[in-house]
Amino acid sequence: MIRLGPRQEGQSAPPRGRWPRAAAVLALAAVVLVLSGCTAEIAQPFSTIAPQNEKTEDIQNLYKITFWASLVVFIGVQVAIGYTALRFRRRNEDRPEQVHGSRKLEIAWTIIPAVILLVLFIPTAQTIFDHANDADRAAASDETFRVNVIGKQWWWEISYPDIPANPDDPEAGPIVTANEVFVPVGANVLFSLASNNVIHSFWVPQLSGKMDLIPGHDNKMQFVAEKPGEYWGECAEFCGASHAWMRFKVNVLPREEFDAWVAAWRTPPAFDANAETADVAEAPPAFGACIACHRVSGTNAQVAGQGIAQNPGYVDPATGEPVPGPGPNLTLMGCRDTIGAGILENTPENMETWLKRTDEVKEGVYMPNYYKQGLTDEQIAELVDYLESLRPADGCPGDDLLVGSEVAAPVIEAQDPNEDPGEDPQ
Ligand code: CUA
Repeated sequence: MIRLGPRQEGQSAPPRGRWPRAAAVLALAAVVLVLSGCTAEIAQPFSTIAPQNEKTEDIQNLYKITFWASLVVFIGVQVAIGYTALRFRRRNEDRPEQVHGSRKLEIAWTIIPAVILLVLFIPTAQTIFDHANDADRAAASDETFRVNVIGKQWWWEISYPDIPANPDDPEAGPIVTANEVFVPVGANVLFSLASNNVIHSFWVPQLSGKMDLIPGHDNKMQFVAEKPGEYWGECAEFCGASHAWMRFKVNVLPREEFDAWVAAWRTPPAFDANAETADVAEAPPAFGACIACHRVSGTNAQVAGQGIAQNPGYVDPATGEPVPGPGPNLTLMGCRDTIGAGILENTPENMETWLKRTDEVKEGVYMPNYYKQGLTDEQIAELVDYLESLRPADGCPGDDLLVGSEVAAPVIEAQDPNEDPGEDPQ
């Protein structure tokens, strides 16, 4: 039995005036702090509360249920604490009435959390199963737009199993690219997610939930790309030194622009950085160091391994040294927005920085620093020219996309964590 005793006589009231003012200031500060998180949410490329398709609307609904349930619990608990502290504050040396073993209380604090958990669990489980069923239906359908994703350390290999690199040559395999996914608007996109190294997690906050890429266990994720736009994604599972620099983009293009992108991918590069090489499809000689790991469609850079069977770089247990392995396909490199999976904006200056200071710019990167190993400034300049030239003469498809589809693109600069270039390493 709980008795809420009346305040005893002779007890003085707490001093008034100071506390309400302090409480008002605190409350105002809390409101300002909370509201400051609400500005221009769509413009924030990694915002989780700016859904841009049905899948993320579903997730947003779960978030709202959780938010309001939490708010009700929070207010209830705060009111109960405040009331109890004021109502039953210590007034004399008497021990208060003990309520240990109160059946009413035990039942109440068993049932209330159980109800809260059910309110959260039922819609969450429903959404998880609905999304899994959507992916299964997409996998069984002929209309599905298929994209294969392999999580590497630390970048993404993207391939399109239904889009041949060369329609006349089935041996050429599918179109393969890295760190930028292109899909036509309205497509029912099914991602097959795999890894041949460690566990990664594929996440485009405005288009999807998170889905792990697990070695030996392929996962599926489906969503409809409803609005043209540029949607940022990132790896959401700690996967090693450069986990934070495993970013990517999903570019949702109008159909004709998507077709233009496919055509551009299939068109051999028109510009040759090396004046001494007659064949325009020939890469500059310095690129010979690169072709062991990188392919460029339409050139002689075709030997690098691709796909799940090919291991990315790994640390040789015998020597403790990283072993280079197949790296990103560099076709249309000049059109990519970033270098190194989001770490540098793709500009000629940054490309030079990347080639000269690879290991300093990206922690743990498996690409060797060939500049330190002897490539000259001239050769690096030639490589920069060549890589930046890998783009269509009439511009890159999808260049005018807006971030999150509805608002003008904010300035989102890739970052170099090692801003100070210091001395050239040579
Ligand atoms: Cu891949 Cu974290």
